[in-house]
Amino acid sequence: MDDEQLIEEGLADRLAAGSPEFERFVDITARRPSGDAGAGHYRDPKEHEESFALALSALELTPADRYVELCFGGGQVLERALETVERAAGIDHSPDMLALALELNADAVTAGRLELVQGDVHELPWADGEFTCAACTNAFFFIERPGAFLAEVRRVLAPRGRFVLLTAVRDAAWNGPWAPALRTYEPDTLRSLLLDAGFAEASVDESSGQQLAVAAVR
Ligand SMILES: C[S@@+](CC[C@H](N)C(=O)[O-])C[C@H]1O[C@@H](n2cnc3c(N)ncnc32)[C@H](O)[C@@H]1O
Repeated sequence: MDDEQLIEEGLADRLAAGSPEFERFVDITARRPSGDAGAGHYRDPKEHEESFALALSALELTPADRYVELCFGGGQVLERALETVERAAGIDHSPDMLALALELNADAVTAGRLELVQGDVHELPWADGEFTCAACTNAFFFIERPGAFLAEVRRVLAPRGRFVLLTAVRDAAWNGPWAPALRTYEPDTLRSLLLDAGFAEASVDESSGQQLAVAAVR
């Protein structure tokens, strides 16, 4: 099956959850987007617009912020954050997402305002306390070791730093054919994960139909 056909089958919910075909569908469309058919979608991921707006609103960015984004995908949130902040950075493990985000944010990269890295978010390539705020949208459900990831985010944030996480609610219709591949958490569990990772405060709100967690370093 070629990638286009695989995506068609996956979107139609015809692949058996857990099968090699299903896992490849999840990888190329979302977990590590790749190829024209899988990655091209992230040029303009309209269905993520609401989560982008929620994340940016919860971040309350100021020009003095140093912003880092985990799993940046096509780079749209970075582009918007750079309308306010002077400096930003981001990490994603997909080479195709790195290429898209570089293309979208070429001016900021050339100007030395944005650093984009290809890598795994379980190990962040930045020093302790390097950023004042961080965000991660539509990706936490793929993170295999959430405790290790959150501790890394906490580590690179400065005192009083804040972190905004947008992720899937269990059983939401929006999870679509990807649902069997997504790790979801009860609000109390997610809050505990954030506190255990060293955040001093954490709240989780599901009123938008997505899970919005806001955590702060004291
Ligand atoms: C569904 S996409 C969301 C992209 C973007 N944040 C958005 O909301 O449109 C998930 C992203 O997480 C990235 N990702 C998943 N697991 C990762 C990991 N362990 N380390 C780095 N990036 C990861 C994927 O490459 C992909 O770009």
